[in-house]
Amino acid sequence: MDFADVIATRRMVRAYRRDPVDPGALERVLHAARRAPAAGNTDALDLVVLAGTEQTAAYWDTTLPEGRRNDFPWPDLLAAPVIVLVVTNPAAYVSRYAEADKAVTGLGRGTDAWPVPFWFVDGGAVAMALLLGAVDEGLGALLFGVFEHEGAVRERFAIPADRRIVAAVAIGHPTEDRPSRSTRRPRRPLTEVVHRGRW
Ligand SMILES: Cc1cc2nc3c(=O)[nH]c(=O)nc-3n(C[C@H](O)[C@H](O)[C@H](O)COP(=O)(O)O)c2cc1C
Repeated sequence: MDFADVIATRRMVRAYRRDPVDPGALERVLHAARRAPAAGNTDALDLVVLAGTEQTAAYWDTTLPEGRRNDFPWPDLLAAPVIVLVVTNPAAYVSRYAEADKAVTGLGRGTDAWPVPFWFVDGGAVAMALLLGAVDEGLGALLFGVFEHEGAVRERFAIPADRRIVAAVAIGHPTEDRPSRSTRRPRRPLTEVVHRGRW
């Protein structure tokens, strides 16, 4: 797909068919994530790929107990055949920025020294690459928060305790969707967003 079309057609998809994602397509989407930039080339983002009903059901069992499912506004999100957890390693960034070429930044002192935590910035870039890669494969994707379930998800999928889960990305074949209320918020025009020369 043309890059401009990928950008123009990407949107968050909250309803999926159960059909599996072609393994080759999934590999290409994961490779796209590996092309994301990383501060200091730290390379400390991991992807936990949950594919197939058994693994995705384990995610939903952990984050959306049966009792809450009746009220869940996007029931067909649970049919997504793939969920990718974007996992970052804050300590690796601190170590990287303590190295000789970065020590001058002072960011090697600890996570508290970071005015902008690049481990989350890089996680966003990885997530965006997954979203765009999915669209390029003719698939849909949704970036969604793990919120208060981070600890439980870490435990359920044996993610080391010092890692942070940036977000989950569902991937699959879109079906009829119900737009989220957030989507009704209009995007501000470019003239309002872009401040040329100064604010
Ligand atoms: C960091 C981040 C977190 C998000 N979390 C959620 C979420 O938890 N649930 C959800 O349905 N959508 C979530 N979204 C999707 C946004 O609501 C969506 O991107 C926005 O409304 C614009 O719509 P579009 O992406 O379809 O253009 C999230 C998006 C981002 C970037």
